[in-house]
Amino acid sequence: MKKNMCRNKRLCMFGVSLIILTLIVAAILGLLAGPDSPITWILIAILLFIPFIYRKMAASKFVEWKDDYSVGIDSIDQQHKKLLNLINQLQTAVDYSTGEEFERDALDELVDYTKTHFNYEEGLMRDNDYPDFEPHKAQHEKMFKKVGEVLAEYEQDQDTAMANAAEYLKGWLINHINGTDKEYSSYLIGKGVK
Ligand code: FEO
Repeated sequence: MKKNMCRNKRLCMFGVSLIILTLIVAAILGLLAGPDSPITWILIAILLFIPFIYRKMAASKFVEWKDDYSVGIDSIDQQHKKLLNLINQLQTAVDYSTGEEFERDALDELVDYTKTHFNYEEGLMRDNDYPDFEPHKAQHEKMFKKVGEVLAEYEQDQDTAMANAAEYLKGWLINHINGTDKEYSSYLIGKGVK
């Protein structure tokens, strides 16, 4: 599993704030000493670029729905979109000091809705005698086993567990939607599922 570079987000945010403050102080001192030094202007340029770089880095961690992810069944596409939104909510909890209540809510909501979605999808496959129902269900169960491990880890080390959960779920869900879920598309659509 990919490791998050900054395990303790409060310490990490403090470190980043300290670096920015140091740059600001250095730039102000440079301006007071005389505006001729190129180093002063380089520091100012770095400070101006920080929000832009930060926004780019933050956006790259969130997942966005693409039409390419569609399985061609609207009810399931809507559920997949909601799952991606809930994973982004979890990513927000990883990146910012949102507090334990927000973290637990984000985890619980994601786990609950994933269960709802899996039940719905498995019901459609079972009711329509989808031939690969069992292997598909086994993938869902394997994913849930992993989520159970993350929840247990959360009680030991919250920041690490949240980062691991967001990273794992993003990768798993995109691969699953784009691979295994798409395999049932033509079969279920052929059975009249919308
Ligand atoms: Fe959409 Fe098989 O989960």
